[in-house]
Amino acid sequence: MIAIAPDIYWTGYIDWNLRNFHGYQTPGGSTYNAYLVRDEQPALIDTVKHYGWEEMRAALEEVVDLSAIRYLVSQHAEMDHSGSIFRLWERCPRAELVCSPQGKQALEKQFFTRGGDPGRVRWKVVNSGDELSLGKYSLRFVHTPMVHWPDSMVSFLPEQGILFSNDAFGQHYASTERFADEAGTETALREAEKYYANIVLPYGRQVEKVLSGIGDLSLKMICPSHGLIWRRPEDIARILSLYGEWARYESWPRAVVIYDTMWGSTEKMAQKLYSGFVRAGLSTRLINLQVSDNSSVITEVMRARLVAVGSPMLNNHVLPAVAGLLTYMRGLKPKNRRGFTFGSYGWAPGGFREMEDWLRDAGIAPGHEPVYAQYVPGREIDARLEEAASSLAGQIPKKEA
Ligand code: FEO
Repeated sequence: MIAIAPDIYWTGYIDWNLRNFHGYQTPGGSTYNAYLVRDEQPALIDTVKHYGWEEMRAALEEVVDLSAIRYLVSQHAEMDHSGSIFRLWERCPRAELVCSPQGKQALEKQFFTRGGDPGRVRWKVVNSGDELSLGKYSLRFVHTPMVHWPDSMVSFLPEQGILFSNDAFGQHYASTERFADEAGTETALREAEKYYANIVLPYGRQVEKVLSGIGDLSLKMICPSHGLIWRRPEDIARILSLYGEWARYESWPRAVVIYDTMWGSTEKMAQKLYSGFVRAGLSTRLINLQVSDNSSVITEVMRARLVAVGSPMLNNHVLPAVAGLLTYMRGLKPKNRRGFTFGSYGWAPGGFREMEDWLRDAGIAPGHEPVYAQYVPGREIDARLEEAASSLAGQIPKKEA
């Protein structure tokens, strides 16, 4: 248990060992943040993954008698936040379970399809704008559909200016520090960017609605459900401003050249393209998928205005690492970027079509004709890649990245 403000306690779980969060590689682990508001009607905002239950329970019992908890607020039914809610519910005879209408549906379908009676639960379904008095404090709810699921909502405690933002503004980052400024604001911002790229990226329009929904609140603290809390005014301003940029799919004048290779031909092409971009004065990142993870790659893609993807053909398809990345990217949809595909083949170039289609499906329109080489790229391919690099770089206004 850690007091983060008068009468507000962090009672979450630090997941040092988390390395994969539904496909998002998390080398730094994560936290599941639950927050207790101690008041006449104590309220717990979110819980933790099922295996963090004992730690959350112990932290809660340091500050409150579980039987006194009046409200269990489920801001989001995904199991990293709801995984312990019903175990806790069983020990909270006074508690009502507060959630959005979609939250109720999702919780019922996740926890009662194999037994149990959802009718036993004292549901308190809230709509956007509803307020709940806890005594000295109150909670105002704002629905934030698709940030990150249809049921998501955030809760605002106006008496202290605290926004419990659930997945929004979070980071997958395990630490004993609870505040961004304690752990290092730059670290927190970098992790928040990676989190946005891997979790929130497809929902720019919905994020803009969230930002406008909380725009008139006087925020003193943003408490996400993962990672570090934002409390310094300058940090709150920065994370809000960055969310605005990311929601608008803004990018840097930068190229990212991503590839896998079989016998070195596609790698030669990637390097030729890379040197062409550098010669054209474009900030560029060169990424070999054999030594990179998709979560870091998608973060680079979110920054870059130009995304080039290359693969050789294997049995008339792209290599699995390229297919995996493009599948991931098609879900995350990094819009407002230009694309380019390249690669090498022996006798069957038909599979390049899927690479072109998948990049387009990811929301990335081609900025130049693809370049594909048979067997080993020769001088003519070099020249075509140099021309492509120069043409693509010319489509991007140059300024400091
Ligand atoms: Fe942190 Fe969408 O759950």
